[in-house]
Amino acid sequence: MPTTAEVLRRTGGRTVKSIVYDEAVIAAKVAELGSQITRTYPDGDLLVLGLLKGSFIFLGDLVRKIERPLQVDFLVASSYGTGTTSSGAVRLLYDPETRLEGKHIVLVEDIVDSGSTVRKLMGLLSERQPASLAVCALLDKVAMHAPMPEVRFVGFQAPTAFLVGYGLDHAENFRHLPFIADLT
Ligand code: IMP
Ligand code: MG
Repeated sequence: MPTTAEVLRRTGGRTVKSIVYDEAVIAAKVAELGSQITRTYPDGDLLVLGLLKGSFIFLGDLVRKIERPLQVDFLVASSYGTGTTSSGAVRLLYDPETRLEGKHIVLVEDIVDSGSTVRKLMGLLSERQPASLAVCALLDKVAMHAPMPEVRFVGFQAPTAFLVGYGLDHAENFRHLPFIADLT
């Protein structure tokens, strides 16, 4: 666990309520998810699609724990703006160059909250005839949505708090923190 002084140095003086997942805990979980994904797709083409920006650190760590051939691409959907509550609207600002047809697609999300982002993207991607389509989310606020079987790979069942770090932001800040903290 980092000391308070270390945290404040990284945040520029903004205090956090607590560190919910530290670096070691995250690394162990990411390794577990990687081997789960390796086992789930014994053959066929695998495309790991990261939803930017939130998944950028998670995706980088995750693909190095998947021990089989794969390709990487990204999606950019419109985000929250600067608030801490979901607006519900999702717009695609960048669409993957790669063909999805006939491939196993794993959509990588930092966190599932209301589930609306994932639901809309799954709808959009399923129209492109992938061999299969699943979501891998590092964090899932399970209390915030009805069961979502498409979220097949989940790192942590997250508390209903506003979390930052390891890719997650508040108004574009704190993505670089190596741990995940409760900002509220
Ligand atoms: P949903 O569409 O309501 O499921 O929201 C998912 C998106 O909201 C994620 O991709 C995140 O970018 C953002 N989000 C949801 N909860 C948090 C949080 O606690 N911290 C930072 N971003 C969050
Ligand atoms: Mg965000």
